[in-house]
Amino acid sequence: MVTVVTHPLVQHKLTLLRDENTGVKDFRELASEIATLMAYEATRDLELQDVTVQTPITSAEFPMLSGKKLALIAILRAGLIMADAIVKLIPAAKVGHIGLYRDPETLKPVEYYVKLPQDISERRIFVLDPMLATGGSAIDAIRTLQARGAQSIKLMSILAAPEGIRAVEEACPDVEIVVAAIDSHLNDHGYIVPGLGDAGDRIYGTK
Ligand code: PRP
Ligand code: URA
Repeated sequence: MVTVVTHPLVQHKLTLLRDENTGVKDFRELASEIATLMAYEATRDLELQDVTVQTPITSAEFPMLSGKKLALIAILRAGLIMADAIVKLIPAAKVGHIGLYRDPETLKPVEYYVKLPQDISERRIFVLDPMLATGGSAIDAIRTLQARGAQSIKLMSILAAPEGIRAVEEACPDVEIVVAAIDSHLNDHGYIVPGLGDAGDRIYGTK
């Protein structure tokens, strides 16, 4: 299942994020804000359970989060910006990291680092990467998680290409995908068109 977060605030901020004149500082702030707003939608189905609270006036039942604990998994580097934003919203979530980069020739993901919460199989997982291009990185990260017993996985990406969506849907049919937009296509170098360029480079000011 794919959810596109069409909220006007998300779409407005995404347009600013795409602009090549948006500098590092604004890019980081916008990406963080979009991730926070997307998390609002991606966590809509979290379970609630009533608990008794004593207010200054009376005792009554009110909903609080229940069910599985959460884990945020950042795909390095660019996913860090999303994890840092969302953990502010869900401070009890554990955070794991999967280091991947795309080989510029083959466009295949190269995994260089994995550090995950030990109880990953018992948590609801949000895999975070701003860009879903060929889908290779996301699929590799999801398989790494599934090999360690992960069952409940949502993939959150700010921007996706149709090719990446299709690839994840085929390889990982149980994984829900949440994006802010699905662009036209990939170019010959595997970049999303019209896209926003290289997310990692724009967040960290590298090239
Ligand atoms: C980017 C992006 C994704 C990946 C998406 O990372 O952050 O991880 O490319 O492409 P794919 O869907 O074709 O796999 P990159 O490889 O540039 O690494 P970086 O985050 O370290 O810059
Ligand atoms: N990774 C990026 O950072 N941007 C793209 O357009 C594709 C992959």
